[in-house]
Amino acid sequence: MATEKPISLAAFDELDIVMLGGLPACGKSRFATTHLKQGRLRVNRKEIRRMLFEMTHFGEPWSDEVFDHSDEYLVSHVERRIIEHLLENQKKLVIDNTSINRDARASHVKLARSLHKSIGMVFLDVSPRVCLERNASSDQPVPESLIANLAAAMELPDRSEGFREVLVLS
Ligand SMILES: Nc1ncnc2c1ncn2[C@@H]1O[C@H](COP(=O)(O)OP(=O)(O)OP(=O)(O)O)[C@@H](O)[C@H]1O
Ligand SMILES: [Mg+2]
Repeated sequence: MATEKPISLAAFDELDIVMLGGLPACGKSRFATTHLKQGRLRVNRKEIRRMLFEMTHFGEPWSDEVFDHSDEYLVSHVERRIIEHLLENQKKLVIDNTSINRDARASHVKLARSLHKSIGMVFLDVSPRVCLERNASSDQPVPESLIANLAAAMELPDRSEGFREVLVLS
């Protein structure tokens, strides 16, 4: 598997932000812990979503079944403020979201630019079939339809989006 091969992320070391991307269950969070933990803080949108839901629902556990689009504005706002706060305090970040296409990535690239911070992207180009297998054995599986829907919307990253470095691992 590509993500198990020795890889060099030296070109990303100096960057303020490493954005990870890839389908649900492709292995982003595991990759972040293995390869990007040193010297960086992690921001993850799903965990913000979960925290906001569980806090406002008196501890009722969040699941994908309770996903509500109308909450996403608040999730985006909180995520943005966390990223701004950490960058303003000179922290280096890994943003661990699916960031599946240009549209999904654009606001983070714009935010980085507005704060004069450098950003690169590592994209795990893992097939939907393998993601479905990993999802089935994950302790936090997502609905299988989400993997298919995002696979249809996927766009590999390109430096023209505003990234200083791009690495696609397949
Ligand atoms: N390279 C790999 N080989 C085999 N299994 C893997 C690999 N990477 C991750 N996994 C396993 O696949 C499952 C999903 O991994 P992980 O949670 O890192 O995915 P993710 O991309 O962060 O998913 P999500 O988008 O839902 O947060 C986990 O059980 C993890 O242990
Ligand atoms: Mg994850």
